[in-house]
Amino acid sequence: MNENLICLSNLSKSFVSRAGTVEVLRGVDLSIARGECVALVGQSGSGKSTLLSIIGLLDSATSGTYTLCGSAVSSLSHYQLSILRNKNIGWIFQNFNLISELSVLKNIELPMRYNSEINKADYETIAMKQLSSVGLQDKAHSYPDQLSGGQQQRVAIARALVGDPDMLLCDEPTGNLDSKNSKQITDLLLELNKRGTTVLIVTHDNEFASKCQRIVQISDGEIN
Ligand SMILES: Nc1ncnc2c1ncn2[C@@H]1O[C@H](COP(=O)(O)OP(=O)(O)OP(=O)(O)O)[C@@H](O)[C@H]1O
Ligand SMILES: [Mg+2]
Repeated sequence: MNENLICLSNLSKSFVSRAGTVEVLRGVDLSIARGECVALVGQSGSGKSTLLSIIGLLDSATSGTYTLCGSAVSSLSHYQLSILRNKNIGWIFQNFNLISELSVLKNIELPMRYNSEINKADYETIAMKQLSSVGLQDKAHSYPDQLSGGQQQRVAIARALVGDPDMLLCDEPTGNLDSKNSKQITDLLLELNKRGTTVLIVTHDNEFASKCQRIVQISDGEIN
């Protein structure tokens, strides 16, 4: 059960702009085993979100190799990548990214529309199950602006869990929350990890980071 879910080798990322080339990630080597809970910490601008975007297949590296679930990402077609992205990765962001015009239930149903394996008739049952797992079943018909920040983040987590992803990628998920709500969210993430989901989380919360199995420190695009 100790196989690597993620393996990055000598990974680099540069952005080219009119001002020149900026090297944001420089020779990153990082492996994450299935079932691990890893905190990614580093100063603002050190490359945390860039690294997460590459791991989450939202962006690609300039050089180096990335192996996800045993496949070299660079060898996969757009179609294969979209399947991996949908099936294996759940995203949680600082600003929740819920759609304000949709009810809580419809927000959670959204990723199912891109998953042909889920029958439309089952959308609501699955969404309710995920909503219950984050303790918000009574908010199914509320809209995001009727919820507290912590509740919105729990809805976002329920949405990320649709499709039962192998891995949750969390980019400062408690950055907009007060300490009480932060604690609820970090406890929930630790609980999900205990149930088997691999968690990679960017955080500035040292107390939470210390509860993760491993802390990975990035500075100026390099892992220390
Ligand atoms: N699309 C882009 N084009 C040019 N530079 C970029 C781009 N995206 C990120 N960068 C630069 O890469 C560096 C790392 O950015 P990144 O967002 O990964 O940092 P971060 O560690 O997540 O910071 P924060 O803690 O503030 O969120 C920054 O200097 C940023 O300006
Ligand atoms: Mg960031």
